Amino acid sequence: MKLRLTLAIAIAVASCSPKVKTDVYLDPSKPLEERVQDALSRMTLEEKVAITHAQSKFSSAGVPRLGIPEVWHTDGPHGIRPEVLWDEWDQAGWTNDSCTAFPALVNLAATWDRELSRLYGDCIGQEARYREKDILLGPGINMGRTPLNGRTFEYMGEDPYLAGQLVVPYIQGVQSNGVAACVKHFAMNNQEVRRTSTSSNVDDRTMYEIYLPAFEAAVKEGGAWAIMGSYNLYNNQFNCHNKRLLCDILKGEWGFDGVVVSDWGGCRDDDEAAAYGLDIEMGTWTNGLSGAASDGYSNYHLAKPYLERLRDGRASLEGLDDKASRVLRTIFRTSMGKQHFGSFNSPEHYAAARKIAAEGLVLLKNDGTLPLQIPQGGKLLVVGENAYKMMVVGGGSSNLKTKYEIIPLEALHEAFDGKASVVWERGYVGDTTTDYNKVVTGQDLSESRSAEQLLADAVASASDADCILYIGGLNKSKGQDNEGTDRADIVLPYGQDTLIEALAATGRPMVVVNISGSPVAMPWAPKVNAIVQGWYGGSESGHALVDVLTGVVNPSGKLPFTMPIALADGPLKTERQYPGIKEEGKKWWQEYYDEGVFIGHRWYSSKSIPVQYPFGHGLSYTTFDVSDVSVKRAGDGFKVSAAVKNTGSVPGAEVVQLYVSDVESSVERPVKELKGFEKVYLQPGESRKVQFTLDRRALSFFDAGSHAWVAEPGEFRALVGTSSEDIREEVPFRL
Ligand code: GLC
Repeated sequence: MKLRLTLAIAIAVASCSPKVKTDVYLDPSKPLEERVQDALSRMTLEEKVAITHAQSKFSSAGVPRLGIPEVWHTDGPHGIRPEVLWDEWDQAGWTNDSCTAFPALVNLAATWDRELSRLYGDCIGQEARYREKDILLGPGINMGRTPLNGRTFEYMGEDPYLAGQLVVPYIQGVQSNGVAACVKHFAMNNQEVRRTSTSSNVDDRTMYEIYLPAFEAAVKEGGAWAIMGSYNLYNNQFNCHNKRLLCDILKGEWGFDGVVVSDWGGCRDDDEAAAYGLDIEMGTWTNGLSGAASDGYSNYHLAKPYLERLRDGRASLEGLDDKASRVLRTIFRTSMGKQHFGSFNSPEHYAAARKIAAEGLVLLKNDGTLPLQIPQGGKLLVVGENAYKMMVVGGGSSNLKTKYEIIPLEALHEAFDGKASVVWERGYVGDTTTDYNKVVTGQDLSESRSAEQLLADAVASASDADCILYIGGLNKSKGQDNEGTDRADIVLPYGQDTLIEALAATGRPMVVVNISGSPVAMPWAPKVNAIVQGWYGGSESGHALVDVLTGVVNPSGKLPFTMPIALADGPLKTERQYPGIKEEGKKWWQEYYDEGVFIGHRWYSSKSIPVQYPFGHGLSYTTFDVSDVSVKRAGDGFKVSAAVKNTGSVPGAEVVQLYVSDVESSVERPVKELKGFEKVYLQPGESRKVQFTLDRRALSFFDAGSHAWVAEPGEFRALVGTSSEDIREEVPFRL
């Protein structure tokens, strides 16, 4: 009797306990596409539509009925943004979401180091995973067409090859943690002025040779799981639902199988959103940065209007299944994948941030004044607001709340404690903002002295200084390095040129550190002893800078963009080119990329225009010799080799760069284009051989007529050097 009763109870219990689901879509060990199709087959029309648009400021819907979680998106490329309120831009006020602030991407680009880029992606991917975010809204890789672009600091420079080579390992690093990298902003989003109402009008050759390659590498080599459509238009169609960019090129020619996410507020049209390649609509009702209509989610272009179109046949069910499949694929690759739980604020992440920041610092000039040699008991005068101002806060969507930010002044006090006195003079007043979107720095940047008094105080303090260390530049405020605005010129703001000249006139040894995310004019360069291009280095920026200034780290960074002498020297000469014009009968502003492929170093080199410091330039505390360049046939391409030797007295790294020149071509081509680079770390006296491969694509230009890459027979030249202007050897070869 007892046994029967026990058995009966056991059966009763078993029948009401939830079925252990063995459904294919729930099983991360099952093939991805089987999971996608299985889940799709179980979903209703309404559920498929729901997962194609936002449900909150930074999440899009899942399928609760099937146990498929919602998708959490997070900024940004430099660190995991603090939690915001459900439907607001403002912070949620959590106390456990302070992150590691990694260096700005332009700083990463300046390392020219693929392995550091992978390390960066892995660390930020771990932090995203730990914060349970599925799509990281970054990296940004828009080309540096104008140095005025307010978001230059968020991108990877002016060269498609450099950006392409570095974005691939970053993506792979992020995605190794089960987090999707969402590469942005696709495409030709090269300015902030009128970014939501300007059409970028570009010829095909320019687009394929300059503005698409880094995105193409991100998709084809990096395997990016997500792409963000940009705010602007291309040929007068909004990029978040641009047929040519998203359907023909991204998903057609490149075979992208991931998900296209709109920029926040970038989706602008019901019919186009349904038909032209957008998979997740985010942030609508906003201009990307300001207020939103409350709970407009059911009115999103891909919500009710989309349902109506599906029901009345104006939108296809196949199109919906394509969108839903891509969203499901992303979910199964991320939150429902086999990922671990990540890590957050680990010492390893701060160490990585410090290493990357230091490796990207660029020594532009040095007469031996660096590394700093301050006599025991001496005085180091530090001048400039950027020695003190915290830079992780601000700048737009890359704004971060970090656990800590080491400012240069703090690191200098640590380094010279007991050795020399470190005295700070502010020198000028730049940006006194100390909070952004309710993220506060806690600093007091108020100042009562006049500009004249500030300058006089700094100059007076120089009289008994063993060295003047100027730390100035730009910041993250509007009109500087800031999303949503462009700069008006590349001249340093806040009267800094006058201040620097006055300090140089004292005759004391002087080092200038320019902290910025974009090029600045340096008319005082001949008058100072050393110049370092510093970046927004994140949490460990101060330590990284002082590591280089004191020689703990030998600088090895190279400029990822040209430092022009003046803005007027650049390729954008007309309003038509930048910032765009209004034309009769056209609703949106029109911008014409008339300069074609001649941007950045392609422009300055081809037109023989002198620059302050060229693309790829960067010195070391040691010296290097590059020699024995040879070019040999290899299959239908070529192998280029060279020897590099550390001819100085301290260990260091050199970035050997390969440029290619097409001597005979039927179209006008830049005099040289970057087609290879290797960063080599060498002991004093050590030498190593570096090898580059040139395939036919590397020798080609894009022919719009035949819509193909064309490598024309004839003479080419391999130029190998340590910057775009410092070519050590040139070797001709024939195709
Ligand atoms: C912003 C930016 C984009 C960011 C998104 C979410 O407007 O353009 O880079 O990821 O909106 O904050």
